[in-house]
Amino acid sequence: MVGDRMRPRFHVTAPRHWLNDPNGLCQHGGRWHLHYQHNPHAAQWGAIHWGHVSSADLVHWRDEPIAFGPTLPWEAGGCFSGCIAVDDDGLATAYYTGASAAGQVQCRATSRDLLHWHKDAVPLIATPPPGVPAHDFRDPFVLRHDGWQYLLVGASRGGEAGQVLLYRSRDGLHWDYRHPLFEAPDATLGAVWECPNLLPLGDRWLLIVSQWPNLGVLGFIGRFENERFVAERQQQIDGDGSAFAHLAMTAADGRVLQWAWIDEQREAQQVLAAGWAGALSVPRELWLDARQRLCSRPADALAALRQRAVVPEPVAGPSQRQRFSGRHLDITARWTLHALADAGFTLLTSPDGRETTRIVYRAQARRLVIERARSALDAGTRRQDQQAVLVLERGEPLELRVLLDGSVLEVFANGRVTLASRIYPQLADSVHAEAFADGPADLSLQVWEMGDIFDPPREP
Ligand code: FRU
Repeated sequence: MVGDRMRPRFHVTAPRHWLNDPNGLCQHGGRWHLHYQHNPHAAQWGAIHWGHVSSADLVHWRDEPIAFGPTLPWEAGGCFSGCIAVDDDGLATAYYTGASAAGQVQCRATSRDLLHWHKDAVPLIATPPPGVPAHDFRDPFVLRHDGWQYLLVGASRGGEAGQVLLYRSRDGLHWDYRHPLFEAPDATLGAVWECPNLLPLGDRWLLIVSQWPNLGVLGFIGRFENERFVAERQQQIDGDGSAFAHLAMTAADGRVLQWAWIDEQREAQQVLAAGWAGALSVPRELWLDARQRLCSRPADALAALRQRAVVPEPVAGPSQRQRFSGRHLDITARWTLHALADAGFTLLTSPDGRETTRIVYRAQARRLVIERARSALDAGTRRQDQQAVLVLERGEPLELRVLLDGSVLEVFANGRVTLASRIYPQLADSVHAEAFADGPADLSLQVWEMGDIFDPPREP
């Protein structure tokens, strides 16, 4: 829709209609390729194809033709999530789930140019191992390790607890089931684990699973040995189910990059009327800090989208406040708090204050909270708070990086806590923002107006 204020500028969306999980991340032919779960017919989930965008620099993206969609009987219900592996000869192999009324199977397709795909005539893995329900068997992820190709599949143990199944192969065609790579102790961590991915990170391994049905995402840091994953740490990513289906890749230069799906949070009727649904997070770079905590930040290349520095104005008064405005912003702030005090931002505030969203570090509670009770006058949008635990060490400043992009919000706190959100203010002048601290603090603040990642822009 032309002039749609909710539409992001620097987050990938489908050109129109529906998007969910990121899929098939790879580098090929000198470009980055990002695929996504896509319904090309409507802004609602269904008829799932693999949409495709590519980029030379990780910053500017172009739409590519849809990679593939359901054509075979065992994928009549959609070509579900998966990955792409590229061999030394440039041959790309997509592993994905075929879904149908009969159940879920793992499939394969190959391509030399990422435009024309050739699907195998039969599913690669046609039935799950005993005890795994036929409809809880999806999202293959392939990696090479110790001379083997390994394939992970997200699954459920008897429909009750999430698990990740491990297969191995020498030739990529014949896969032997080994055993669960890693499993949830019980249903509290999710009945099904979706979209597993496993990568080396620092001197450890990172295993990520998306939890169904409570819609959280867990990152486990640990070891991958004797074909099992041994967890040492566990971390919630994007607390409160604010983003989902996180998928990471190891880039040719060794960086680990991750994307996630940021879902709509308004009524289905409004989404259909908007004509588009779902955004991907910006590329996030992952690392482990000295205490082996999982950390992430927007990929450095994103700085190329900073079009103009916005100069914040100090607000007169006893507390530290600085004012600015905008709807597509990259904000970096650092507070040195001299006493236990809340600090953060108000964003997308209307001049009369009827609409406002607050991102606040509640010092006493040690929580980072996105307060949405007054985000939108419209009752059809979700307005509950979202929060994550953020424990600052003694003397550690509060560091927030906020990416605001139309209705999409991503918050990175001190490298180690992420929250994503959707906010849909109705008033055209809900563009005002303020950085604040409710106590003595030194604040350093930089704000940039961000440009468009699509060339040419999809929206005027
Ligand atoms: C996660 C998920 C995956 C599945 C896909 C279908 O959001 O449910 O498990 O492959 O979406 O679109």
